[in-house]
Amino acid sequence: MKKFFVIGNPIDHSLSPKLHNFWLKKNKIDAIYEKKLLNEKEIPKLIESLRKTEINGANVTIPFKNSVIPFLDDLSSEAKKTNSVNTICKEGNQVIGHNTDIAGFELALRYINYEVKRKKALIIGAGGVSSSIILALKNMGCENIFLTNRTLEKAEKIKETFNDIIIQSWGDIPKFDIVINATSVGLNKENFDLELDKNGDNKFFYDVIYNPSETDFLKDAKLNGNKTENGMMMFIYQAHQSFALWNKVLPKIDDETINFLK
Ligand code: ATR
Repeated sequence: MKKFFVIGNPIDHSLSPKLHNFWLKKNKIDAIYEKKLLNEKEIPKLIESLRKTEINGANVTIPFKNSVIPFLDDLSSEAKKTNSVNTICKEGNQVIGHNTDIAGFELALRYINYEVKRKKALIIGAGGVSSSIILALKNMGCENIFLTNRTLEKAEKIKETFNDIIIQSWGDIPKFDIVINATSVGLNKENFDLELDKNGDNKFFYDVIYNPSETDFLKDAKLNGNKTENGMMMFIYQAHQSFALWNKVLPKIDDETINFLK
């Protein structure tokens, strides 16, 4: 029986086991997918299990998307471009890091027909998923990308890779069409102390978080007359691509799948 894990800290919120086990069953694949709460110092041991094929694949979530990289043998070109890994596979004798968040975010916006061309985007957060969102927005022709993070240095570090993004200091909110929460704020009941509504209403608020399905970031935005979307479709699309990498099968994303997760 094959074995897959999602690793992170915290990990309780993750619906990856639910979705992957659903698809594994549907496709009659003899495998199990579980979540694993990890400390940073346990990462080398986990990679060793992948190397020995005791584990057949892993997803990586908060806060390890960058920190797993030094332990891997190689990276896909997307993982290299973003310095971020959310999917690990064994390929031949090597343990390879992939990034399916980029496609996940792009497909999620396409799913709701949101056009980013000639739009201004503000990304809040400079953690593991931010560079994937930047690359996806650039691929889709977004005009201006602003990045703000509580810890300025982390945003500046991302600018070394994407030099055309504009760094805003924390609390300095530029005019935007779409704002994306790419932080862990909202996983527990909490919100930012940022004035995100000073641009007027009718903006688009996107939260990468999908569990809870409506964070305070989205609740407040809705009350202020904005369009909102949570990270559920991004989550499903990134999982879809991870599943294909490991199992060489593209599972179905249909209403049954989406409703099963709600
Ligand atoms: P990391 O970047 O440490 O690997 P991450 O979970 O991928 O971890 O990213 C967490 C993101 O959420 C970071 O942008 C973090 O901001 P800092 O870089 O300042 O730590 C952000 N974050 C977490 N808690 C926050 C809070 N209470 N207010 C604002 N931003 C927060």
